[in-house]
Order: sequence, then C-alpha cells, then structure tokens
Amino acid sequence: MKKRILITGISGQIGTNLAYNLIDKGFEIFGIDKRQNTWTNDLTTVHQDLSSRYDNFTDGLGCLDYGKVDLVIHLAANAKVHELVEYPTRALDNFMMTFNMIEYCRNNNIPIIYSSTREVYGDIQRYITNEADASFHTTESPYSASKISGEAFLYSYSKCYGLPYICYRFSNVYGRYDNDIERMERVIPLFYEKIKNGEPITIYGEDKVLDFTYVDDCVAGISSGVDKILTGEVQNKTFNLAHGSGNPLRTVADVFQEELGVKADLSFEPSRVGEVTHYVADISSAKKYLGYEPQTDLVNGLRKAAAWYASQSK
Ligand SMILES: NC(=O)c1ccc[n+]([C@@H]2O[C@H](COP(=O)([O-])OP(=O)(O)OC[C@H]3O[C@@H](n4cnc5c(N)ncnc54)[C@H](O)[C@@H]3O)[C@@H](O)[C@H]2O)c1
Repeated sequence: MKKRILITGISGQIGTNLAYNLIDKGFEIFGIDKRQNTWTNDLTTVHQDLSSRYDNFTDGLGCLDYGKVDLVIHLAANAKVHELVEYPTRALDNFMMTFNMIEYCRNNNIPIIYSSTREVYGDIQRYITNEADASFHTTESPYSASKISGEAFLYSYSKCYGLPYICYRFSNVYGRYDNDIERMERVIPLFYEKIKNGEPITIYGEDKVLDFTYVDDCVAGISSGVDKILTGEVQNKTFNLAHGSGNPLRTVADVFQEELGVKADLSFEPSRVGEVTHYVADISSAKKYLGYEPQTDLVNGLRKAAAWYASQSK
C-alpha cells in the first residue's frame, strides 16, 4: 500500500515542489495550508489555520480527521524574517503551528520532518557553519526565535516520547514556484521582476554573503530524508541543506542583467535589522547520511529560475 504523507504549508514554494517530487516517487500526498495554491489545483489540500489553539490531537487537529498518515512534513510557517521583526505575533504563530504538529505526531505515533533555517546560527560572521554551531545566544530575530524554539520542542519530544524526527536547516531556496511576490517578497524573483521592468533595485548589505539553494537540490535532500526516516535508516538528526558555497547578492543582479539584456539601476543600503549577513553551510552531514549532492550552482540556478519566470509571464 502507498505510504501517505501529510505536508503542511503545501501551497508554498518548497511544499509545491516537494509534493510533485513525492507524488512522482509513488507516495500519496495530502496537504494542509491556510490558503489556495497560486500555481496549481492539482494538490489535494485541506484549508486549515494551523496556528489556532487546538485541544484534540487524536486523529487530526480539532474536529478534523486526517485519516491514516505515515509521515508529517511540517513546512507551514510565516517565513519572512523582516516581516516578523515588524509583526512578532506571527513568530508566535510559527511556534503554535509546530507545537500542534508535533502533538498530533506524538498522539498518533507518526515521525516528523521539520523545516528550520540557517537563521538559527545568528549572524555569527563565520564562514562554513556546522550543525553544532546553533545557539539561542545568537538569536537575531523573532523568526529565528520561532524556529529555534520549534527545534527545542522537537528535540524534547524525541527525548521524552521517542518521537522520530529529521530537522532541516534551509538557506535561501529559490527557483520554481517562488514568484508570488505580492504575498511574499523573496529577493531572487523580486530582483528578476524589477530588472525586467526597469525599476531600481536596493541591495541591503553590499558585502552580504549567503548560501543560495536551487529548489531541486533542496527537494532532493528532503526527499532522501523521507525515504530514510520511513525505513528508520536515519532518525533524530539535524541537517544543513544548502549548496555549500557563499555568494554576494550582487551576483543575482549581475546574472539577471545578463539574462534579460537590461542594465539595472542598483543602489546599496546597510543590511536590515534581524538579517543574517554571512552564511555558508557545512553540508557534510547531509552528504554522509542522505547521499546529498547539490547539482546546481548559483549562476546555473539563476539561469534556470530566469527561464521559469519568463515562461510564467507568457
Ligand atoms: N524558502 C527558503 O529559502 C527557506 C529558508 C529557510 C527556512 N525555510 C522554511 O521552510 C518552510 C517552507 O518555506 P517556503 O519558502 O515554502 O515558505 P512559503 O511561505 O512559500 O510556504 C509556507 C506556507 O505555509 C502556509 N502557512 C502559513 N501560516 C499558516 C497557518 N497558520 N496555517 C496553515 N498554513 C500556513 C502559507 O500559506 C504558505 O503556503 C518554512 O517553514 C520556512 O520557514 C524556507
């Protein structure tokens, strides 16, 4: 019988890409999201706000019955760092969503995959960041606090109740299904749109160096974890999932200028409050335990992303 996987946040960028990958691999996928998917109606989705306070976790949250579930992949979150500096109650919502999902998993004996972030390392100005370097002492923003507290809850559930988990720390994922910039401003599709339309671009942090991850690499890393947590081969581990190399934001503008044949009007401002300005992931654990090998460097990833954005505006 097909394994049935619940993806929370399925209408988002990573959720949409991951759902297609797992359906192709033969899994039955159903999702929960509080909103409609921008790009497709193909993915079976229950519309529910996961940040409410629920009392019953037995078959689903509240009075809903999700049916048989073999694995939960918890992606739902308010995922924009700067937005959560302005509206910190959205960070509290992140925490409630995570609590609800791990309680649901505990009550129903379901393993969970949790989506954390490189923000848990803080802005430590250190290149090559190992999984052990995360610390609440370096928490830069309410978003980071919401993710680090989610991780703490996850680890405590594993210790106290034997809940099996994999935790991923993602970093600047870009590519297909990320261009709904009216809902969520992401730097890569935003730069593409602005350069295409001849609008000025502000780069916050000229010397910012980040680890950008092409979405297919990110999905391949999660997908491998899905196989391995279901067989029990890998459990209770935390992985950096990124490309493993650092690039300045400027590169994004340079590649899109070249792809679009347009000269951009660039200006520079200091990084904004709460932002991480230097990060390169140590991906050796993901390589060792998940066979993770990122395939797409930034320049090639941006070219693929540009081709996809162009196909969307036809
Ligand atoms: N994309 C990245 O670069 C990146 C980097 C680090 C961490 N992450 C984490 O990975 C996960 C997925 O990221 P993404 O880029 O796909 O984000 P996204 O915003 O595209 O998707 C998140 C989804 O969660 C849903 N959601 C938010 N609040 C909800 C609620 N109360 N109830 C139900 N659904 C709700 C949203 O509607 C959205 O569809 C998030 O947890 C994010 O914090 C992403």
